[in-house]
Amino acid sequence: MKILQVNLKDKVYQVYIKRGIIKELGKLLKNISQAEKIVIITDQKVNSIYGEKVLKILDSEGFDTYLIEIEPGEKSKSLTTLCEVYSQLVNFKVSRKDIILTLGGGVVGDLGGYAAATFLRGVPYVQVPTSLIAQVDSSIGGKVAVDLPHGKNLIGSFYHPEAVFIDPDFLDTLDAREFSSGMAEVIKYSCLKDSQLFQELMSLNENQLLDNIEKIIFKCLNIKKHIVEKDANDHGCRMVLNFGHTLGHAIEKYFHYSRYAHGEAVAIGMYQITKNSEQLGLTKAGTSHKLKESLQKFSLPYEMPSSNAAKIIEAIALDKKNKGESIDIVLLSSIGKAFIKNIKKDEIPIFFL
Ligand SMILES: NC(=O)c1ccc[n+]([C@@H]2O[C@H](COP(=O)([O-])OP(=O)(O)OC[C@H]3O[C@@H](n4cnc5c(N)ncnc54)[C@H](O)[C@@H]3O)[C@@H](O)[C@H]2O)c1
Ligand SMILES: [Zn+2]
Repeated sequence: MKILQVNLKDKVYQVYIKRGIIKELGKLLKNISQAEKIVIITDQKVNSIYGEKVLKILDSEGFDTYLIEIEPGEKSKSLTTLCEVYSQLVNFKVSRKDIILTLGGGVVGDLGGYAAATFLRGVPYVQVPTSLIAQVDSSIGGKVAVDLPHGKNLIGSFYHPEAVFIDPDFLDTLDAREFSSGMAEVIKYSCLKDSQLFQELMSLNENQLLDNIEKIIFKCLNIKKHIVEKDANDHGCRMVLNFGHTLGHAIEKYFHYSRYAHGEAVAIGMYQITKNSEQLGLTKAGTSHKLKESLQKFSLPYEMPSSNAAKIIEAIALDKKNKGESIDIVLLSSIGKAFIKNIKKDEIPIFFL
């Protein structure tokens, strides 16, 4: 088992990574909590595959268990779904002595985490991420949120889990497309801080990748942990985690969160900005080509949907989150090294188009 400890100013929690760890979930929860009641928040798809199994494991340790199911997909990261979740938490008489357990991908983790952060001014929660994106990225760092029609994650908070339990065996049932989407975040981490990981990703075949997935998850989370420890509330260096995300979010939103998976949109965002910064002489020559090869290897897109490109770029400048005359963007100086650059709003097309 690999264990990471996230050390924040006012909270310390462990991240456990191990194939099959789910079988020990009840016992591990007993070690970290006195709670008697656990409410699982999950989505229909994950529930249909794992719900019964996880309930059984928790029941066998004597927990009083309840389950809340939401519809799969980004559309559930909404105030409407959040209200439905609150109603069920009321029905189940959840108190601050209980635990909320998010079992699912980033949508369940972000929405369930936000419900935990706000219900009764905060109920302890644990994350059991089941998608690759959630295992390598969203389950740590404490960013919890729901979307508004105006944009992603506009209602949110920082609320850290009591623990995170990562079982790579969950990935066996993930769609190939969702797995690829998660690989975009893995590529992101390697581009930001670990050129060796980037090389490794390029050299592994499919079986080797799966054999090494525990180690790869650990590496990504270790990078994120160090960044989050330095800047938990996202006032400074944590911004590098947004590499590829300014354009990625604009693409996701433009297509109403239906055409591109999160990682696919981020893949396009990473490539476009790197291609342009390389042309401007800010990035080492050849970097965008390497990045493109890695995205292609994992069946990820890298080109802007051309007929809509101008409108998507326009949306970045109009985004209410990007107030003022300038915005910060994340660029690579080379694979494994990133930096933040402040650009004027009229330079947006130069970097993104
Ligand atoms: N909080 C953060 O720091 C952070 C970081 C990155 C991404 N995110 C958010 O995460 C979300 C994307 O996460 P995601 O890609 O996991 O989306 P998701 O939760 O919608 O999961 C993708 C799909 O995979 C299915 N699924 C999940 N685990 C499965 C499994 N083991 N077997 C079979 N199917 C499974 C889900 O039912 C869903 O249909 C976005 O909303 C993004 O904004 C948050
Ligand atoms: Zn992301």
